[in-house]
Amino acid sequence: MLPVRLDRTDPRPLGTQLADQVRRLVLGGALARGDRMPATRRLAADLGVSRSVVEQAFDQLLAEGWLEARQGSGTWVAGGASGPPAATRRRRTPVVERPLVMLDAGTPWIDPKHRAVWRRAWREVSVATAPQGYDDPRGLPELRALLAERLGRTRGLAVDAEQVRLTGGTGAGLRHLLAVLPREAVAVEDPGYRAAVATVRESGREVRDLPALEPVTDLAGCSAAYVTPAHQHPLGRVMPAADRLGLLATARRDDAIVVEDDYDSEFRYDVAPVPALASLDRERVAYLGTASKAILPSLRLGWSVVPDRLLDAYDAHRALTHDAPPWPVQRALVTLLRDGYVEAVVRSARRVYAERAPRVVAALSPYAELAGPVAGMYSTWLLPHARAVRVRAAAEEAGFRVNLLRDYCRTARLSGLVVGFGGPSDDELDRALEVLVAALARL
Ligand SMILES: Cc1ncc(COP(=O)(O)O)c(C=O)c1O
Repeated sequence: MLPVRLDRTDPRPLGTQLADQVRRLVLGGALARGDRMPATRRLAADLGVSRSVVEQAFDQLLAEGWLEARQGSGTWVAGGASGPPAATRRRRTPVVERPLVMLDAGTPWIDPKHRAVWRRAWREVSVATAPQGYDDPRGLPELRALLAERLGRTRGLAVDAEQVRLTGGTGAGLRHLLAVLPREAVAVEDPGYRAAVATVRESGREVRDLPALEPVTDLAGCSAAYVTPAHQHPLGRVMPAADRLGLLATARRDDAIVVEDDYDSEFRYDVAPVPALASLDRERVAYLGTASKAILPSLRLGWSVVPDRLLDAYDAHRALTHDAPPWPVQRALVTLLRDGYVEAVVRSARRVYAERAPRVVAALSPYAELAGPVAGMYSTWLLPHARAVRVRAAAEEAGFRVNLLRDYCRTARLSGLVVGFGGPSDDELDRALEVLVAALARL
């Protein structure tokens, strides 16, 4: 079997991926002049694709002169194909770097059927006139208005465009805030979001551990508390109403800001999402939203709603550092929001997650305990650490990446696995679950 691997999440057509990989095998010497290529029907069956995909790749390689067809006897690597000199070519099993299929907490599922709007967004960017100088560091006014409307409608957060700021994602939003907060410790949930911990530490501040499922009663000496109330990351819980009110009361008493990381609240499939914590107290809570779950992490775009009393310092810092997200990306998001792309993608991803979550739960629950309710695009499972490490190694061996719960913990002594289901295709998810179940059953 040819050592090639096609990735259905890769936006390039499968035929193009196959042609690229065969070219690389010839150039690397793994396929040598005169080697016979497998029959298209067999290769298609091995790769789980239609025969036309393989034929399209072979046609391309024939046209480029990498392969040649011999009447009645199949397809061969062509004489003129330029791999390394024959003397250095060894017949050995080539080592092929296979990218891992990500079953992590952060890779979302994106419905390809909405690509037309996506393309329209970038076409609009290509004909729009870019600002001549540094643009408004707060973000494009049109985009801020669209986001303000959406925050009101979907998160119960009544804000106007004047209060919304565009950022380069959640981490950038946190960095901007830290730039204007007193240089005191920041409390972060434990287990909690690792990037937030790293960002706080990089700012030279101490990170205090907030036990993730316990009420917050003490923020003395902290300038902020970083929390994920809509979907505790990674244990999954929705912060109960009493704990929300308690957290706000503690923050008021100890004069700390609550930083609300609202990363994936759109993706509840059992009940409607709870309104944002910031809707309870706009002056105590700084809200961080992101495009990374509902649209695409690689956009590197997010939005913040900052308490009014911090806004002047916040804006001055951003104007000084020119730290605003790129204009083309903001401009594209205007189209994506205006033309309903975001709503359509969120709706279809929610349907996919709602269908996949019970599959994951049914497969893994005989072997491990769920850490909390499953929502969004991942589930968290409690297991002894040594077992989790072995299961993760077995998954990696089979080409899948799952995360260790221990990696999210600082003083918390929890262990297990965080298993995402947004990244894989349906078939990949089935295979990954088989691998995980087999590894768990072996233990
Ligand atoms: C808890 C949490 N918050 C926020 C984000 C998104 O961060 P960013 O907007 O920087 O991509 C993630 C992504 O995985 C996350 O897990």
